[in-house]
Amino acid sequence: MSSATPAIPSPLADWKIQYTKIFINNEWHNSVSGKKFPVINPATEEVICEVEEGDKADVDKAVRAARQAFQIGSPWRTMDASERGRLIHKLADLIERDRLLLATMEATNGGKLFATTYLMELGGCVKGLRYCAGWADKIQGHTIPSDGDFFTYTRREPVGVCGQILPWNFPLVMLVWKIGPALSCGNTVVLKPAEQTPLTALHVASLIKEAGFPPGVVNIVPGYGPTAGAAISSHMDVDKVAFTGSTEVGKLIKEAAGKSNLKRVTLELGGKSPCIVFADADLDTAVEYAHMGVFFHQGQACIAASRLFVEESIYDEFVRKSVERAKKYVFGNPLNPGVNHGPQIDKEQYNKILDLIESGKKQGAKLECGGGPWGNKGYFIQPTVFSNVTDEMRIAKEEIFGPVQQIMKFKTLDEVIKRANNTTYGLAAGIFTKDLDKAVTVSSALQAGTVWVNCYGAGGAQCPFGGYKMSGNGRELGEDGLYEYTEIKTVAMKISQKNS
Ligand code: NAI
Ligand code: MG
Repeated sequence: MSSATPAIPSPLADWKIQYTKIFINNEWHNSVSGKKFPVINPATEEVICEVEEGDKADVDKAVRAARQAFQIGSPWRTMDASERGRLIHKLADLIERDRLLLATMEATNGGKLFATTYLMELGGCVKGLRYCAGWADKIQGHTIPSDGDFFTYTRREPVGVCGQILPWNFPLVMLVWKIGPALSCGNTVVLKPAEQTPLTALHVASLIKEAGFPPGVVNIVPGYGPTAGAAISSHMDVDKVAFTGSTEVGKLIKEAAGKSNLKRVTLELGGKSPCIVFADADLDTAVEYAHMGVFFHQGQACIAASRLFVEESIYDEFVRKSVERAKKYVFGNPLNPGVNHGPQIDKEQYNKILDLIESGKKQGAKLECGGGPWGNKGYFIQPTVFSNVTDEMRIAKEEIFGPVQQIMKFKTLDEVIKRANNTTYGLAAGIFTKDLDKAVTVSSALQAGTVWVNCYGAGGAQCPFGGYKMSGNGRELGEDGLYEYTEIKTVAMKISQKNS
């Protein structure tokens, strides 16, 4: 942690939900259908509030607003790029101002540990926005020495109206990863938060207005996937859709784009990321990173290190230490101090994880600890470790998205590379070794968008992030991620004579 790490306050005890409506044109709207949907606290299963339920008609309204804001000559299109950057910085300032409220809301709605949310997630949001703010007036084309008497240059123009569909596991961070680059490049946005976690997105909507973004630049439509989400991905007047979530829905979104207007699509999908520990690695470091790699946020992370390959000679000791580590948890409401294991997001995820745990037991993996639910209220599952896991078991193949670690054994380098790549996913990977040659060889051979060596999960707004294979299309963040929000235009101008 840097010296700028703030002290962690207590969560707000007394706070109210202010924003529950659809945000279009910097105004709050009721849903066209008149419907609302409940937002649940996953630690208590209590309804926090009801939110207006957006559907196709609301998405149409939002797209019209975003299109209007994107017209040639509009305040947004004619704004200096440096001014766009200033507005994004202002939004970062406002998020920093409301950090405690946002962290309290995010932890309550998302079943998230408060301290981590306050420190890492809110900190990451502010930094991510500032990174994108800095780019706004640095996104530029080239002059091109083309053949003939022409003056040729390229422009990086905004794509246009961008649909953005978010998951529930990191609601605010995902919002920043989506709107930061889109706004930096000059696009307008219609964003749908996940139905489980719309609250912080709606608070940020109020900050977008307060920061001074022109009406229609950012529109936020809470609602469900097959209705509001599908309306975005199949819309004829949306120029791009960016999605984070399941591979299953990623396919639907790409299909909808293909069947409508061939809008640009970027997808950040699931994973079954390998983490490879060689016998020469620092054992305690590897145990801790491999543990956090899969148990962070109760396993609900796309990068989860959910296929752990450990070299034969250290296997037994590694399993023993991993089990010891997994038993050190205090369950409970994630806003309470001392609690370090919260609930899963909802009943659907809870049931999916318990089903996969049962499959592990049935398919012959050795249950070392955990293995079932906890408590009688909230969607809690015990941190679970399986050893003697083999590649064809469901727990070794399917994305679990829960607190379940599966430890496999390997003998040789060639073998482990083949096994690590033997998956339809390719989001991330970890390697633990002190041998530089092994680290370079394996990191080159792995089919993964990010490879961590002797660490896991390191990164930030500067680093392009995304997947190989069925873990996604395109990249988010970093310079490469920003360019996914631009169209390149080549302009060739006839001139009387070109000179070198
Ligand atoms: P999901 O992919 O169904 O939901 C993610 C977002 O997509 C939500 O905003 C949802 O409303 C929207 N959506 C759903 N159906 C849609 C459709 N037909 N058209 C457009 N948008 C649609 O994910 P879900 O059901 O919450 O979780 C299922 C699994 O997906 C998890 O168990 C996990 O394996 C994976 N997942 C991966 C995430 C990641 O970070 N890559 C995040 C969340 C889930
Ligand atoms: Mg779903």
